[in-house]
Amino acid sequence: MLTLKTSDLSPMQMQNYLQYAIAPRPICFASTIDSAGNINLSPFSFFNMFSTNPPMCVFSPARRVRDNTTKHTLENVLDVKECVINIVNYDMVQQMSLASTEYGKGINEFEKAGFTMQESHLVKPPRVAEAPVQLECIIKEVIPLGDQNGAGNLILAEIKLIHIKEEILDSEGKIDQAKIDLVARLGGDWYCRVTPESLFKVAKPLTTLGIGVDALPAAVRNSKVLTGNDLGMLGNVEVLPSADEIDAISFSANVKDILDATIGDSSTRERELHELAHQLLMVGNVNDALKIVLLF
Ligand SMILES: Cc1cc2nc3c(=O)[nH]c(=O)nc-3n(C[C@H](O)[C@H](O)[C@H](O)COP(=O)(O)O)c2cc1C
Repeated sequence: MLTLKTSDLSPMQMQNYLQYAIAPRPICFASTIDSAGNINLSPFSFFNMFSTNPPMCVFSPARRVRDNTTKHTLENVLDVKECVINIVNYDMVQQMSLASTEYGKGINEFEKAGFTMQESHLVKPPRVAEAPVQLECIIKEVIPLGDQNGAGNLILAEIKLIHIKEEILDSEGKIDQAKIDLVARLGGDWYCRVTPESLFKVAKPLTTLGIGVDALPAAVRNSKVLTGNDLGMLGNVEVLPSADEIDAISFSANVKDILDATIGDSSTRERELHELAHQLLMVGNVNDALKIVLLF
């Protein structure tokens, strides 16, 4: 394993390693304004939400690694403490990238990138009409993380209004993760797109306490067939099945075939039972998979 001391890396090397590893990052497409009324629009992927009550986002226009200068977005929010965070979908990605061009102070990137300015309800910076979600925010605080090249400036933005295009809602009025078509930034020029095929669900262990992987027998934990994801699902069940439940699964057709065919060959039996459990886990049948791995 390559182990790097951050104090040995140049800001450029640091940026490279970290941006490839800490990814994908959501994109805050921030519109801001200065007190003379000049509008600015720039993307920032050092961005996330950090609180829902109060609803707070943080994004970070860093000092340029190249020459330690600051970005117009930072200067604007220090001047007029408002912004709109526009969420970027796939249809916007090329124009969003164009808006990241370092145009001179006072140049409106809505115009340069060809986006439509839509008046905000509460704040002065306009929204990006094309964005599927637009968040009108008040700047609560700006925290500089340093004064050297590459130092971030945390902009704490409290969300006051959330605008959502109806076309990305499901029948219950919630945002449909498959419809919003999000993009995210990775390292270098890489981006990713959230397509319906790339989405999957992981059941949350919020209300129930999973037994934990450490409660599974050693043969299951050390299986050559079961993956880390398999063990994670098995460890997330609330209770181990009873001896009767485990016994009952040995009469199901697939299991019985394996047991009958592997009498006296314990290693093949274990492998085949684990393979069957793995298949069941792949389709979400955790309870039967657990009974099968506990049979052995
Ligand atoms: C997708 C994307 C994400 C970016 N994220 C950041 C970021 O988090 N912080 C930053 O300082 N620059 C980031 N940039 C670069 C800025 O957008 C760029 O420096 C821009 O010119 C700043 O504009 P401004 O000076 O008008 O604020 C990003 C660029 C792109 C295309």
